[in-house]
Amino acid sequence: MAVTGLLLIAFLLMHMFGNLKMFIGEEAFNHYAEWLKGLSEDGGILYPILPAGWFIWIFRVVLLAAVVLHIYSAAKLWRRAEAASPSTYEAKRKLAQTYSARTMRWGGIILAGLLIFHLAQFTVHAALTNGSFASTYQSSAYKMVVGEFSQWWMVLVYAIWMVAVCMHIRHGFWSAFATLGANTSPRAKVILDACAWAIALVLFIGFMMMPVAVLFGWIHF
Ligand code: HEM
Repeated sequence: MAVTGLLLIAFLLMHMFGNLKMFIGEEAFNHYAEWLKGLSEDGGILYPILPAGWFIWIFRVVLLAAVVLHIYSAAKLWRRAEAASPSTYEAKRKLAQTYSARTMRWGGIILAGLLIFHLAQFTVHAALTNGSFASTYQSSAYKMVVGEFSQWWMVLVYAIWMVAVCMHIRHGFWSAFATLGANTSPRAKVILDACAWAIALVLFIGFMMMPVAVLFGWIHF
């Protein structure tokens, strides 16, 4: 759980950083999107160490494996916890947990559901509708993103999703480091708590800045 979770957080930081290229402009963002897929003129990321276009597929396989292992470990731990936990209300009531900790399971499920929506909206839609996509967005990832976030309800859906993601990460980051042996003293706990909050806030603000900027017309066609 801990290792795959930290890997997924690293991915999110990179993804957030990449999305911020929308602030630089259409050319910068589209070049970045093409570079990741090995479609740019320079052969893309890691070319010529890897043939053009290979990186994205290796990356997708690693990411998918991390997600599958993360969910598999969660299900296993869930079952183990159910078997071990006291079943009476009185006993359960005494467990002191934060709101984020109590919502890890259902929060994780909501998060995963919205991730499927997200991939259908951008990655799958763009891949499947390359023909009609060209007429709607002129084959520009930048235009696709501006088009989607010009709708207020879409920004709201993403804001709700990001609250779920960041709450999950707030507890998950803390929990991962505790698992790996970093929660050794009250002082270490305070530092871990502060880092977990900082990562969650950076991700929330960093991800939401761009859709909000599109909604208010600061980033436009
Ligand atoms: C406000 C938040 C977010 C925005 C605006 C956003 C935007 C995007 C866009 C535009 C793409 C397609 C890029 C392209 O095809 O060139 C994409 C792909 C993707 N996003 Fe996000 N994203 C956000 C949050 C997230 C989160 C929280 C996750 C994971 C939990 C995530 C996971 C992914 C994945 C896995 C891909 C597919 C990468 C691939 O092509 O293999 N995104 N995102």
